[in-house]
Formats: sequence, C-alpha cells, structure tokens
Amino acid sequence: MAYINDNYQKLPGSYLFSEIARRVAAFQSKNPSVKIIRLGIGDVTQPLPKVCIDAMKHAVDEMASAKTFRGYGPEQGYDFLRDKIAEYNYKRRGLNVEADEIFISDGSKCDCGNIQEIFGLNNKIAIADPVYPVYLDTNVMAGRTGDLKTDGHFEDVVYLPCTSDNDFSPSIPAEHVDLIYLCSPNNPTGTTLSKDALKKWVDYAKANDSIIFYDSAYAAYITEDGVPKSIYEIDGARDCAIEFRSFSKTAGFTGTRCGYVVIPRELTGVNKNGERVPLKNLWLRRQTTKFNGTAYIVQRGAEAIYSDEGQAQVKELISYYMDNAKIIREGLSEVGLQVYGGVNAPYIWLKTPNEMKSWDFFDKLLNEVNIVGTPGAGFGPCGEGYFRLTSFGNRENTVEAMKRIKSNLNI
Ligand code: MLT
Repeated sequence: MAYINDNYQKLPGSYLFSEIARRVAAFQSKNPSVKIIRLGIGDVTQPLPKVCIDAMKHAVDEMASAKTFRGYGPEQGYDFLRDKIAEYNYKRRGLNVEADEIFISDGSKCDCGNIQEIFGLNNKIAIADPVYPVYLDTNVMAGRTGDLKTDGHFEDVVYLPCTSDNDFSPSIPAEHVDLIYLCSPNNPTGTTLSKDALKKWVDYAKANDSIIFYDSAYAAYITEDGVPKSIYEIDGARDCAIEFRSFSKTAGFTGTRCGYVVIPRELTGVNKNGERVPLKNLWLRRQTTKFNGTAYIVQRGAEAIYSDEGQAQVKELISYYMDNAKIIREGLSEVGLQVYGGVNAPYIWLKTPNEMKSWDFFDKLLNEVNIVGTPGAGFGPCGEGYFRLTSFGNRENTVEAMKRIKSNLNI
C-alpha cells in the first residue's frame, strides 16, 4: 500500500488558476461563438524582446556544433548570467549582491514554492491575506500548517490582513514568527511597500531572528521614484532576507522560464544543536540534488536584456503593459468602481460593486461582458469583495474590455 501525503488533502479544491481555467472552458463550450477576453492569469501576450530572440537563436546554433555544444550546466546558473544580474540589478544601484549569491532557476513560482523545503516544519509562517497562493499552498503541502478552518484560514499560520483600511500594507504581527512572505509590487493587490514599511519588517526580522522571503517578481513595473525595487535597499536586509526575481514579467519569459533567488552569504538558520548554518549552502545542496539548471539557450536569452539595447527593449515592453494598466484603471474609474494598484504593478485590484462576492462578480463579468478576471477571494478571505484584472492582455483586447464594461456591464 502506498500512503499519500495527507497534507495535500487539507487544500481546498484545485489551484486558483486551474479552477478559473475550468470555469472558463465550461462557459466557452456552452457559448462557442463568444469572444472571451482573458484578463485573469497574469500571463504576458507580447513577443519576447528582439535581443532575447537573437541571443537564443545564436545559442541554438552553438548547440549544433560539437565545439560549442553544452550539456548539463551548473545547477546554480551560468556565470555569464549571474554576473550580469549582480552588475545591472544590484551593483549599478549601489546594492551589495555578489554573483555567487544569485541562483538561477526556471522561474519564481518554483523558487517561492521550493524555498520552504530548506526550513524546518516547526517554523511559524506569516503571510499576507490576500496572497499569491503558492506561498501558502506549498507550506500546507509540507505540513507546516494545521487544517483549514471555517473562516478560510489555516491553523498555525499568522495572517497579515491587507485591505483598503491599511493601504494593503501588512502590519507587523504582535507575536513571534519565523518565516515571513512579503511581495512588492504586490500580487494580487498591485500596491507596493514603502521604504519605511519595509524597514519596519527588516527591523522586526532582525529582532526576532526571522527570515523574510521577499518576492519582487514585478520590480520592473515600478514607475514612481522612491519605491524600493529590492529589499536590499534597506539597511540590514542582507542579514534577514531572501529575494526572488523573475524574467517572466520583466521580459516576457512566462513560457520561456527563467528566474533567480538571492541568498546573501551572511544569512543563516539554526540547526537542532543550536548552530548557525548558512542558508546559501542548503539551497545549493537542494538545487544540485533536485534541479539540473535552466536551459543554456534560455539563460543566453535572459542575459541579453543586460545591455543598453536590451534595457531599452524591456522598458518598451513594460510601458506597453503599463499603458494597458492605465486604460483599465481609467475605464473602471469611469464606471464608478474603486480601483487600486496598476501604477507600479501590472495588476489592478478593484472593489466589487454593491458588496458583491468575488466569485459572483467573476460570473457576472464572464456572463455579461465575456471578460475573465480573478476573484479576490481566491487569494484569501481578505480578498473577498475584491477582484483582480491584469494589464498583460494585448492593447486591442484591453480597449475592447473597457468598452464592453462601460456599455454592457450592469452595475
Ligand atoms: C498570476 O496571475 O498571479 C501569476 O501569473 C501567477 C504566476 O506568476 O505564477
């Protein structure tokens, strides 16, 4: 007999975006002629920057010759990419991150999900509510939580409510926690944490010997000055924070897959004998055992954004999506909806009209104007009554979506 990991059965239903895909497929099969506009999952629609395509084509050619062919690469990533990331994303911004503290991966979803494996099950986790579901679900799967309660929260987790009342900025908990998940620019709310707010978290983590998991996959979307792009902009963060970054939204790599984790060398956890152990070494051990590296061709594509030409092309791509964000923000405001986010992030978070439940609004939007979004409740109980739209659609669909909402949505 094979026993299953019972923790999986604590999870409700399916993964949020699989559930949405299932509902949309059911609607489409009943209404085959309807043109659905998908502003649900944050998946990009525009082609990769030309520099990436050229670099990947060149890398494919290298694979065609025995002299330049590459087999297994270093599990932690090729130096050519780690060096460029350290240079462009950190050193040029006056931040102290070395190339050997950067671990290349096949995307932030895997990194954010896998990181908890190097920590004991006895750690208390704190997560925002609403939250990107991967943080919580992977901790449930690992057995770091109790059961799901009737209020939609899991036992043994410290939730940090983020609502319009606190500008979607999680407050420091009154109790001790060991592992803290923060995401800025935030998925799903599209809001950001200020330097002051982050400083409070860094101070808390240092005082409590906690580790912050800082997901800044959307850092490239920050348009306002003074909003931190990296947690290492805060003094002391190297002693308490792991940072996650991604090429998915920065350069359109959602299908191509590339991301990275930064684990500063001074960051440690405690073993059962009370000794300090560098987390960087544990992550390297994990990755070398379970991961064989991101494809050489993909890493060459990612590297290509780190040139003047590459940076210009990425900027253009991001402007395209941020123009969509503006169109959505303005369109929703015009019909009287309360909107948040969409200024330093590709997500627009809206308050549903007339206190509607998030999933009811999902059905209404799909049925009345054939638009798919993401119900806020899918990100946690505090997301109830909110709804997320993404600016990653193409321009034509984004404009058309707002037109449909203005003329046909009955609110
Ligand atoms: C989202 O829609 O929240 C994201 O696309 C999910 C992800 O990046 O995994």
